[in-house]
Amino acid sequence: EKITISVIKADIGGWPGHHKVHPALIEKAREILSKAKEEGTIIDFHVTYCGDDLQLIMTHKKGTDSPDIHGLAWETFKEATKTAKELGLYGAGQDLLKDAFSGNIRGMGPGAAEMEITIRKSEPIVTFHMDKTEPGAFNLPIFRMFADPFNTAGLVIDPNMHMGFRFEIWDIREHKRVIMNSPEEMYDILALIGAKSRYVIKRVFPKEGHKLPKDEPVAVVSTEKLYEIAGEYVGKDDPVAIVRAQSGLPALGEVLEPFAFPHLVSGWMRGSHNGPIMPVPLKYATPSRFDGPPRAVALGWQISPEGKLIGPVDLFDDPAFDWARQKALEITEYMRRHGPFEPHRLPLEEMEYTTLPGVLEKLKDRFEPL
Ligand code: 13P
Ligand code: 13P
Ligand code: MG
Ligand code: MG
Ligand code: MG
Ligand code: MG
Repeated sequence: EKITISVIKADIGGWPGHHKVHPALIEKAREILSKAKEEGTIIDFHVTYCGDDLQLIMTHKKGTDSPDIHGLAWETFKEATKTAKELGLYGAGQDLLKDAFSGNIRGMGPGAAEMEITIRKSEPIVTFHMDKTEPGAFNLPIFRMFADPFNTAGLVIDPNMHMGFRFEIWDIREHKRVIMNSPEEMYDILALIGAKSRYVIKRVFPKEGHKLPKDEPVAVVSTEKLYEIAGEYVGKDDPVAIVRAQSGLPALGEVLEPFAFPHLVSGWMRGSHNGPIMPVPLKYATPSRFDGPPRAVALGWQISPEGKLIGPVDLFDDPAFDWARQKALEITEYMRRHGPFEPHRLPLEEMEYTTLPGVLEKLKDRFEPL
């Protein structure tokens, strides 16, 4: 019997500014999900935060894109927004971009990563939660976990994963997708996903010959782009991901290893700057300097045979990631010194979706031909 893991998140108000989620919102969400658990809609849940994004982690038997589960998440965000308004939190309801819920939360503002899987005898998973960045921030780490032998020793030495994996890549501008095989098409995959603002890894699947079912994902990323829904800048997408580990898949340490390198992602202040993604324990999922730098939290779980969430374990709460954090701070300082100059500020093409066009519009009539 299959179990679905749904991670659905939204920014429904920051405390203060875009800093973090107020505990009252977490409390409210727990209250609503507890009730849904009692009523049997969900098997289990955990509510947490990353920066100013409220995170709902749920298990259930209703499959992906279930109106019941999406409706529950929407209801939870709506109710918690009322609390956010009472407290006068910043940007209350920020990511709830549509009024009427019509069965699916996609395209409404919240981000969702979901997978329906046959639970293995032992099912270790990691949920990743990022703030102050966009879905493409997962391209590099997911690629390294499932395709880079310098990251994942198992690709070389474990016969159960030696055949590689399949990547489902979305062109989020043209709304198209392509499925590609690694390692055969590795260079083509990189040609796409290196352009992380346009091509994003949506899912990873096992290949023919792998012991896991070919059509059940081993990794999935939320790919919602807020500006595409709102038509203007309304904050960053702040993505989430679910990754399965061990036994024919990357070991837990291979899933975490890409974050030992704090690569540059876009987001940060006003969603308009490049900066390093810093792997942090939950207590430091609190972007402050220049509203950043962008953060990543990794929560470890075992899914019990009946679908209970055994966890979380705060996986970046380990001195082994101190060097990455230190390096992220050095890069933060280096990038900040550029002030409003590229490549700290995003290239013009990506600034199109921020508040910059308003400034340029004012100057339009002052330009004269050379
Ligand atoms: P253990 O022997 O500690 O289970 O480790 C196995 C493994 O694959 C570590 O990557
Ligand atoms: P969030 O998407 O996390 O709300 O960030 C918005 C922002 O503009 C930060 O400076
Ligand atoms: Mg915010
Ligand atoms: Mg946020
Ligand atoms: Mg956001
Ligand atoms: Mg062991």
